[in-house]
Amino acid sequence: MAIVGANGSGKSTLARLINGQLLPDKGSVIVDGLHTSDRSQRSQVRGRVGLVGSVPDHQFVSNLVADDVAFGPQNLGLEREEIYKRVDTALRMVSMEDYAQYPPYLLSGGQKQRVCLAGILAMQPRYIILDEATSMLDPQGRRQILQILEKLRQESKLGIILITQDLEEACQADQVIVMQAGQIAANLPFRALAENQELLNQYHLEQPEFYHLVALLKKQGLLSPDWRGDSLDKVVEALC
Ligand SMILES: Nc1ncnc2c1ncn2[C@@H]1O[C@H](COP(=O)(O)OP(=O)(O)OP(=O)(O)O)[C@@H](O)[C@H]1O
Ligand SMILES: [Mg+2]
Repeated sequence: MAIVGANGSGKSTLARLINGQLLPDKGSVIVDGLHTSDRSQRSQVRGRVGLVGSVPDHQFVSNLVADDVAFGPQNLGLEREEIYKRVDTALRMVSMEDYAQYPPYLLSGGQKQRVCLAGILAMQPRYIILDEATSMLDPQGRRQILQILEKLRQESKLGIILITQDLEEACQADQVIVMQAGQIAANLPFRALAENQELLNQYHLEQPEFYHLVALLKKQGLLSPDWRGDSLDKVVEALC
């Protein structure tokens, strides 16, 4: 699931409500039957929903990368050996195993984001919310993280909520939610949104490049109006 929307539309607030960092003034938030407003259930919700934010400096609690990644699993009360194993695996997943004995403050912005993600992965959550968590990663790093998550999604049925300003990044999502002034303004499949210029304008979203190209080709009569491919290769094939 991807969540998009303008600054201040309530995306981060929703994320923090879902993992129990924030409690609602009205209504309730229920994750797999667990109420975040109930103190004992809230800690279970936090174990289930990992939240990776966009300002990694705020998330470090230790002076060593490895200790920082271990913090979450320690709080789950796991055996020492299991913790070491999880820290090692998580750091490898984000290609940061060489930095295990580094102090986090010496890392670059993108490296910090990777370590934060490792800390969440080490907790083996059921859901993971990425709140613009790849904003500082280089394109290759961003692709790597999205590939890791896609693999986890297939292997372990991890539920992923991706909060982003960039519709391009949401292309793997089954469903896209558009937030506006604290409300869900739209909830639809990625393609239905990406193809609909009117909706995109309405929500001040940039059309993903691929769909823009297809729209232009259709307008020029080079592709038929009902053409439905989803890759550049297929466009080339159709044009040829
Ligand atoms: N704890 C809170 N209580 C009440 N209002 C809040 C709280 N936290 C944030 N807000 C307000 O809620 C609105 C939504 O903020 P939020 O951070 O969720 O937006 P966002 O969609 O994540 O924006 P951005 O794209 O800039 O990250 C803002 O107007 C903000 O001032
Ligand atoms: Mg935000």
